[in-house]
Amino acid sequence: MTDQRSRIGIFDSGVGGLTVLRELYRQLPQESILYFGDTARLPYGTRSPAEIIQFVREILAWMVKQDVKMAIMACNTSSALALEAVRGEFPIPILGLILPGARAAVEAGKRIGVIATPATAASNAYRRAILEVDSTALVWQVGCPEFVPLIEQNRLQEPYTAEVARSYLSPLLQQGIDTLIYGCTHYPHLSPVLRRILPPSVKTIDPAVRVVAAAAQELEVLGLRQTSTPLPTRFAVSGSPENFAQQALTWLGCTPVVEKVYLPTPVSAELLE
Ligand code: DGL
Repeated sequence: MTDQRSRIGIFDSGVGGLTVLRELYRQLPQESILYFGDTARLPYGTRSPAEIIQFVREILAWMVKQDVKMAIMACNTSSALALEAVRGEFPIPILGLILPGARAAVEAGKRIGVIATPATAASNAYRRAILEVDSTALVWQVGCPEFVPLIEQNRLQEPYTAEVARSYLSPLLQQGIDTLIYGCTHYPHLSPVLRRILPPSVKTIDPAVRVVAAAAQELEVLGLRQTSTPLPTRFAVSGSPENFAQQALTWLGCTPVVEKVYLPTPVSAELLE
């Protein structure tokens, strides 16, 4: 049974979701969180829609077994490719990043650039969502296959990373964008590199800010807002817990205890009877 004290489940392929976790800590400090990183199957952004939908189903099925009261897809690729398909399949509210990100971008500008994984860019999810909110907006999307591996390997300081960033941003700058959506939750980690390349007039949008605000509102409406002290965040990954704990130190400033989870979880005996 879930209640106010149950955790909010958030997931990503890896460390990208930590940017959403930071936002949860900022906006909803009383909530308890379960974080899952599907590090054994990272990156998601070069996988097929069918694979992504399958992974997301497995993760949500596991999260529901952990009694989360709500799930946030802290992954744009999952939000773009799987949210619509899986939303009705689980008994909890499930939030994605695309519409919140589109809404924030439209409020910020008219010439909107989106940097995202190849799968998110190819899905056109951001273009559709932006045009739904404002049909007069102009949208350019760039798939950035090299970013996630560079961030996961913590190669932010290397000149090569800035070079790659320049090449991805260049077609957007040529179009004179006034707003840039970080269409992958890994990218706010790259913000210092990206901001050095972008003109100061270009506003950057981190959809996490809006999705967490939407989560707060939904919890309020459902009477599920936690008001007392939170439990420590529970971290789980499908790959190496040691690696993830090490990476979390870079992005969160602490080394958490990380569990290993095997997905898909075996079907329990009673379900087979
Ligand atoms: N951080 C995720 C996203 O927002 C996935 C990145 C990946 O695994 O390719 O899309």
